[in-house]
Amino acid sequence: CGIVGYIGQEDSVELLVEGLRRLEYRGYDSAGIAVVDLGGRIKTVRCVGKISQLEKRLAENPVQGTIGIGHTRWATHGAPSDENAHPHRSGPFAVVHNGIIENYGEIKDRLLARGYEFTSETDTEVIVKLLEDQWHRCGNYVESVRATLCQLRGSFAVVFLNEQAPNLLVGARRESPLILGLGEGAYYLASDIPAILHVTRSIVLLEDDDLVVLRRDGYQIETLEGKPRFHTVQTVDWNPVAAEKAGYKHFMQKEIFEQPRAIIDTLRSVVDLNQERLRLSDLNISQDLVKTVKRIHLVACGTSYHACLVAKYLLEQLCHVPVDVDLGSEFRYRGPLLNSNSLLLVVSQSGETADTRAALKEGLERGAHCRAVVNVVGSTLARMAHGVLYTHAGPEIGVASTKTFTTQLVALYLFALHWAHLSGRIQPRQLSYHIQGLRELPGKIEEVLSAEQTLREWARRFMDREHFLYLGRGLLYPIALEGALKMKEISYIHAEGYAAGEMKHGPIALVDEKMPVVALIQKGPLYEKMLSNVQEVKARGGKVLAFVEGDRDVRLDDDVLQFCVPQTAPWLAPIVFTVPLQLLAYHMADLRGTDVDQPRNLAKSVTVE
Ligand code: G6P
Repeated sequence: CGIVGYIGQEDSVELLVEGLRRLEYRGYDSAGIAVVDLGGRIKTVRCVGKISQLEKRLAENPVQGTIGIGHTRWATHGAPSDENAHPHRSGPFAVVHNGIIENYGEIKDRLLARGYEFTSETDTEVIVKLLEDQWHRCGNYVESVRATLCQLRGSFAVVFLNEQAPNLLVGARRESPLILGLGEGAYYLASDIPAILHVTRSIVLLEDDDLVVLRRDGYQIETLEGKPRFHTVQTVDWNPVAAEKAGYKHFMQKEIFEQPRAIIDTLRSVVDLNQERLRLSDLNISQDLVKTVKRIHLVACGTSYHACLVAKYLLEQLCHVPVDVDLGSEFRYRGPLLNSNSLLLVVSQSGETADTRAALKEGLERGAHCRAVVNVVGSTLARMAHGVLYTHAGPEIGVASTKTFTTQLVALYLFALHWAHLSGRIQPRQLSYHIQGLRELPGKIEEVLSAEQTLREWARRFMDREHFLYLGRGLLYPIALEGALKMKEISYIHAEGYAAGEMKHGPIALVDEKMPVVALIQKGPLYEKMLSNVQEVKARGGKVLAFVEGDRDVRLDDDVLQFCVPQTAPWLAPIVFTVPLQLLAYHMADLRGTDVDQPRNLAKSVTVE
């Protein structure tokens, strides 16, 4: 989502719309603005679709005013619709919001009991209703904002309008970005620099729990507890193209670095991290269903298929339910044995892939219970399935999936935990162990990201090779496939993923000094076996790039290149191991000068069979 806010001397409408237009590259499903008009009333115009749609609405219902807020939405709670589009209203207030409010259900119940009515399915509407409620109690606007935000759990960047205080624009953030822009006699708030770069280069980067109050002649920043805060004003020298990528060279690189955040958002959406409880009600899975289902079918394409391969291990081991994994393009042509004892779970970033859609249609026709894990709210698969679990990766622009893959792995892990919990296979204490591991995951990924330079160096050494072999076992076998796919997709180097134990049945014939071999080595029962495979490669002159879980001090061999992958709970290893492979492929492609974000012949969403 994208946010903009303006207070100044000029008419705000064009400034807000232009700001939103400059966030358009990120993809969104609806947009809207609210301004305090010349008569002192808030006027809201919002709709599903592109900014041009919003402009059409504005042409039909012109509004004017020198203070206003705007929003582009990428749906998280509730499908894209006019009602769910921001800004949301309550009493004299309007709000725009990015982020996820974890306890919105509790607050909504409380407000419903107090007689408030809701017109959208968003978590955002809860914020503005709660603000109205607080304001009726205390009468002071800024204090009411403070009291409201202090009751929220989760992440937010918010900007409020109040028609009874048309000279104040109030914003705040916690774990979602918000910046303050300083103009001439004007101030701006925005979630991203590109939204305001055309009007000012002087910005203040707000921090967590900052509350900012803007007047036309000055501003004030405090903490949510009311302590003053002072931040330096910075000058941004990015050009608009660099700004869209937040300073990264490519969207793919930016999206690789967004993974800790995307994972936190995905967790937050369904896990109560305080109480260590899962809330997967949209998945629509009951204890009865868990008893009924005798086999789970996982179906997807491309990178999403690799996520399913990992999920098979999780579901079979944690839930003791047999699992089949199929490619979307193969599934319905093999006459799958589906009936009312089958659960079909399709996995897709876009929710639109034609082969996956055809598989889901097959499942529905044959009476299977159908569920979907998708990233795009309201997409076709989400609407067709009987229940859905969303990944919260946000829009992904790079054609090669990165953050959507790791969030799919998180979502499928949560799915398995939910199933295991409902079937009584794991107890609350074990659930809390799993959740603890997930909570530590973003930090481990940060650790890998901080070693980016090593992978760039490796990429430089091997950028002229024609072929790569990726080997893994167990949970890391699908990650070997995914690592090889990333390499192929963006660097155009031929790469093959293989189960390490199968190497002796074929690929070993290819190994010589020209063949670099990526080995993924997890601690645990398969560790020694992977080390033997490394020796086999070395004995044939192959160069080994080893990704090894655990201590930096443990050295495999002097002539093996070794990258240390932080240790996690065993089920989470596929997620952390994915990240260095993404970076290796990315730097290889960048050094070879390919079109990283839009590799030749590939498309982000393949809607033809
Ligand atoms: C395309 C993309 C891949 C993606 C696959 C499946 O081939 O280039 O990155 O993994 O489609 O897409 P989905 O949206 O269903 O996950």
